[in-house]
Amino acid sequence: MTAELASERIQQAERIVVLTGAGMSAESGIATFRGTEESLWSRWDPQQLATPEAWSAHPQTVWGWYRYRHAGIQAAAPHAGHLVLASHDNCEIITQNVDDLHERAGSTTVTHLHGRLDAFRCHLCHRPISVAPPQQPLSLTADLTKCPQPSCAGYARPGVVWFGENLPTDAWEHAVQSASTCDVAVIIGTSGLVYPAASLPGIAADHGAFTIEINPERTPLTPQVDLYLCAAAADIVPQLFS
Ligand code: OAD
Repeated sequence: MTAELASERIQQAERIVVLTGAGMSAESGIATFRGTEESLWSRWDPQQLATPEAWSAHPQTVWGWYRYRHAGIQAAAPHAGHLVLASHDNCEIITQNVDDLHERAGSTTVTHLHGRLDAFRCHLCHRPISVAPPQQPLSLTADLTKCPQPSCAGYARPGVVWFGENLPTDAWEHAVQSASTCDVAVIIGTSGLVYPAASLPGIAADHGAFTIEINPERTPLTPQVDLYLCAAAADIVPQLFS
């Protein structure tokens, strides 16, 4: 019954915003950050890998870890959930994910709140840097890629937002605007623990949107949403959006 109600709301909506987190990519084989023994923050300390301080202290380790994750993203492919979302013209994606699976599925309106891993840029002059795809086998330390600008002594860094850094202003303002004007917000595969992204479902609800959460586990967002569907993204998203 709840899935039918969700499907009905989705079919009737003029503007749908889909807020995705790491759980959206889990069935494509990309590890989540939290929740299982294989999750990234169960295996590694974010302070040692995902902060400006970590980059300053041991950049080769940070770079090696992101190259390792980049290889994982490149080896993954979008699943049926990514594909069906891309086939909906009135469906806009706001994601915390740094992978490009929504784009590879064909979604054209994708806002990355936490950046994109493969949008490499110089850590000093901030110019984009093209970095060759990682080769196997990978180690968790790697030689840095120098900035090609002759006058710059910087190195390529991943295009992600690290803890302690601000979200890209344009992306955040666009996300707030979209959340404030949609009819339906579908929140898929996020633990709802990282702010400000976790405030978007509340912003959508405050502006009258019907909110639907898809997650096999309950989260701090669950009591706030209109409908909670205890399910995995690749199973339920195609059912709701087909
Ligand atoms: P998390 O790893 O914190 O949470 C993943 C969520 O996905 C959990 O609630 C799982 O229950 C759920 N999940 C797992 N498998 C799923 C499936 N097949 N279908 C649907 N849901 C599933 O990921 P995020 O909430 O995205 O930030 O993490 C938020 C931010 O914390 C990340 O962007 C990253 C991280 O630290 C930065 O690095 C700045």
